[in-house]
Amino acid sequence: MSFKAPRGTKDIFGEDIFFWQKVECILRNICESFCISEIRTPVFEQTELFQRGVGETTDIVTKEMYTLEKKGSESVTLKPEGTAGAARAFVENSMYANPQPTKLYYITPAFRYERPQAGRQRQFHQFGVEIFGSYDASCDAEAISVAYEALNKIGIKNIELKINSLGGNECRKKYNGILRDFIGRNIDNLCDDCRQRFEKNPLRVLDCKNEKCKNVIENAPSVTECLNKECKAHFDELKKNLDNMGIAYTVDPKIVRGLDYYTRTVFEFVSNEIGSQGTVCGGGRYDNLIGECGGPETGAVGFAMGLERIMMLVKSQELIESNSKSVDIYIGSIGNEGFLKAQAIGYELRKNGIRAEYDTLKRSVKAQLKYANKINAKYSVVIGENEVQNDCVSLKNMKESVQEEIKLSMLRDEILKRL
Ligand code: HAM
Repeated sequence: MSFKAPRGTKDIFGEDIFFWQKVECILRNICESFCISEIRTPVFEQTELFQRGVGETTDIVTKEMYTLEKKGSESVTLKPEGTAGAARAFVENSMYANPQPTKLYYITPAFRYERPQAGRQRQFHQFGVEIFGSYDASCDAEAISVAYEALNKIGIKNIELKINSLGGNECRKKYNGILRDFIGRNIDNLCDDCRQRFEKNPLRVLDCKNEKCKNVIENAPSVTECLNKECKAHFDELKKNLDNMGIAYTVDPKIVRGLDYYTRTVFEFVSNEIGSQGTVCGGGRYDNLIGECGGPETGAVGFAMGLERIMMLVKSQELIESNSKSVDIYIGSIGNEGFLKAQAIGYELRKNGIRAEYDTLKRSVKAQLKYANKINAKYSVVIGENEVQNDCVSLKNMKESVQEEIKLSMLRDEILKRL
């Protein structure tokens, strides 16, 4: 019997895990500078949280959720994104009672039952930031600046930031009416899914990837036409803030995002170098979600970055050098006495932060040294009965092929001197 990783999932190891760790380290350091603290929420949540939070009519909720077979009384679903869980945690842990804003970040796996393709998996990973406790456009700008700086620090080139405003509740209501009229006039040219979307939530028709629907949507009225005075001012303020920080953007009225919780600001960072799944980061303001989750009305804004897509760019743009870390010393051994000494010394060196390896496969000395070469060991020694008895060993510099006699009991100090 042999097993395969489930479709749409990937093992991350070897050189890849080195890239992931580097990127994660950059992201954590950035959050540190922006005074954002980490939150880890469960991988599964009550299904209803996503239904209500992400939205009943979104693709995520209607088609893509991994809802687990009922265990006990409640239905639970693997998180398809990080925002709803963070919002639930903000309310459940009464974080609203703390001085605001509350700034949280997460690096988490997320799960969506989608058709896998390059840059689209069923288990993927998001780096996300959520800022709770402010309605001010400067917080939208702050969230965008974190994502902008993250992409910058990783070194990603040729990324475009697109921003838009969907307006508040009043503007959305007005826009829904106008959009419904427009779609109603074009209903015969839409796919079956969109006809249903039209009934429940016309805004979701704008996300459709069907070519026929795309042609119709092309001429749809824009949400920006429906912004009231306050929402227009909020959007202008955001632009002013971004200008102030030197963050380049374009306004794209076509950005509506695929999740229902957004109000006012929405934004995406898009690359055209990784195929059709080019959105590496998406986010926006969601001022109704905390209320929906049972908390006090609270302004909120955030984003999430798809780490698989970031890694595609890290590789194609060659942003991180391969792992050049080699083993510091290989401690070969002959016989049982030699092995026990090699093990004890190896453990001692490792405790001192030296990258040491020794043989655990009972190989011949020749095979051990061949292996030492393969793993690029900088130094090697071979310990047998004689070396133990005479407290003397030959230390070989593998690169330069030179050997010198040293005291075995001084191996740690000798190697530290040379590294
Ligand atoms: P989203 O646009 O659904 O937004 O996902 C954010 C990012 O996750 C996408 O831009 C993409 O890079 C990545 N992503 C999404 N689905 C997949 C997939 N199947 N495979 C690989 N990568 C994927 C959200 O999730 C919101 N929670 C963002 C947010 C946070 N808004 C406010 N706060």
